[in-house]
Order: sequence, then C-alpha cells, then structure tokens
Amino acid sequence: MSSVKTEDSATGTGVVNDGRLVYKDKEVNENARPEDLSEMLAAGTKDVHDKAENTQFVKDFLRGRICKEVFKFGAVALYYTYTAMEEEMERNREHPHIAPLYFPSELHRHEALARDVEYFYGGNWKSQITCSTATQRYVDRIRELGRDDPVLLVAHAYTRYMGDLSGGQVLKKVAQRALKLPPTGEGVHFYQFDTIHNAKAFKQLYRSRMNELELDAETKERLVKEAVKAFNFNIEVFQELEELGKTIEEDVLDGGPVHGDIQGDISK
Ligand code: HEM
Repeated sequence: MSSVKTEDSATGTGVVNDGRLVYKDKEVNENARPEDLSEMLAAGTKDVHDKAENTQFVKDFLRGRICKEVFKFGAVALYYTYTAMEEEMERNREHPHIAPLYFPSELHRHEALARDVEYFYGGNWKSQITCSTATQRYVDRIRELGRDDPVLLVAHAYTRYMGDLSGGQVLKKVAQRALKLPPTGEGVHFYQFDTIHNAKAFKQLYRSRMNELELDAETKERLVKEAVKAFNFNIEVFQELEELGKTIEEDVLDGGPVHGDIQGDISK
C-alpha cells in the first residue's frame, strides 16, 4: 500500500504505513511524575488505545478503505458526541475541575462537524440524521456525567481532544484522498484546528492544566477508569461503522440498492 505523509509543523510528522500511523517525533516528557494525571491517563489507557487502533474499522480507514456512506455516518456519530460533550463542558464551565480545561475557541468541534455534516447531507441535514445505538449510549453517559459527576468529563475531553490533536492531519489527508474530497477542506473541517498553530505545544499545555487540577488519588483513579470507558465507547462506534460498511458491500454484491457513494465515486 502507498503511504500518506504529512509534514505539518502543527501536529508533527506522521506517516501512515501499512495501516499504522507512526509518529516520528513521539513526545517524551522527562519531567513527568507517575502520579501526574496526564501520566496516569496515558499509562492507564495504553492497552485500550492499542485495541482502538487495531479495530478493523480503524485499520481499514488508515489504508484508505472507507466508503463515503460510512464516513458520513462517522461524521454524524462525532457530531452527536461532540455536541453532548461540549454542551456539558459549557454547562459546567465554572466548575473548578472543568474551567482550566475549557478551551472552546481552540478545541470545540461542534461547529466544524455541523459544517461537515451539512456538506454531506445538504441544507436539510438536521432532519436527515439520527443518532446510532452505540453513539446514543456514549452520549447518554456524557449527559449523565454533566449532570451528576462533572469532574469525569475531564476523561472524555482528554480521550477525544488529545487523540484528535495527535492524528488529525494524517486522518484528514487519508479521508481527502480516499473519498476524493476537495483540497479546500469541505467534509473534513473536524480534523482542522484553525486556532491551534502548534498541536504539540497545546497538548503540553493541556497536560499541565490536567496536572494542576486539585484531585485526590481516588478521583484520579476514577478518571482513568472513565477514560477507558470513553475509549470503549469509541470502539463500539467503530464496530457499528464496520458493520454498516459490510451491509453496504453486501448490497452492492447482491445487486441491491445502488449506493452512489461507494469508494471511488466522487459524487456527494
Ligand atoms: C495519542 C496514534 C486512535 C486517543 C496518540 C499518539 C499516537 C496515536 C502515535 C501519540 C502522539 C504523541 O505522543 O504525541 C493513534 C492511531 C490511532 C489512534 C494510529 C488509530 C487510527 C485513537 C483513538 C482515540 C485516541 C480512536 C480515542 C478515541 C488518543 C489519546 C492520545 C493519543 C487520548 C494522547 C495520549 C497521551 O499523550 O496521553 N495516538 N491513535 N487515539 N491518542 Fe491515538
């Protein structure tokens, strides 16, 4: 398979090679202490991160094996997820554990996703989309935490935003190439953080903000558990997308309904 490279100063240099995203300049923080929340989260989610990377959906995506119909559903799933996460962060923005991590203009993806979904579905997109079963479970958990246990939203924000800042540029290029999306960014605004010029530096700031939160050991442990849960919600959404991809392929093989969006078809 051919590889996609980015030479992007914002996110560092990433290379997709044989379905794996490899970072040449992986970060090592020599001053890290094991009791730092950022270290606990990174260590505690390592296994589930590996699991997420190795889901069939993610491996196929990195190889550029994705059809537009599935990508569109993925964007819708992200739209519901980020809408919930950002509304709950907003609602709790003065909470002492949320305020230091509240970066709406830098991080928030709701608007970008609304634009992407509108690009794919057209002007009446809101009446055309629904929240999938796995996405709804993820959203329900975020809503529950926003109401009853806002500190655990930190785990959800960490799982999504740190991941997005780690691989965004590469994934954007993979999607643009596989789906023949325009180079001007339509359909992939989600991956573009316009107000973050140096993702590596921003991630360091985010880590240090997490480490400055006043948290006891028990709450840090609960945050690690919640982050593992957040990864698992993502994995469940990937599995759903993979199943969807199979039904689309089967329809085509059966000579069933024609899906104009199968890979390689550039029509919207
Ligand atoms: C960080 C790769 C999927 C969440 C990273 C880093 C790499 C990476 C190389 C480290 C970047 C660095 O050290 O600066 C990948 C690959 C994926 C993938 C190849 C598959 C396409 C995911 C998913 C999530 C996720 C699905 C969660 C939904 C994270 C988080 C971090 C991270 C939270 C920050 C870790 C930390 O420093 O604490 N990822 N990732 N990743 N990724 Fe992923």
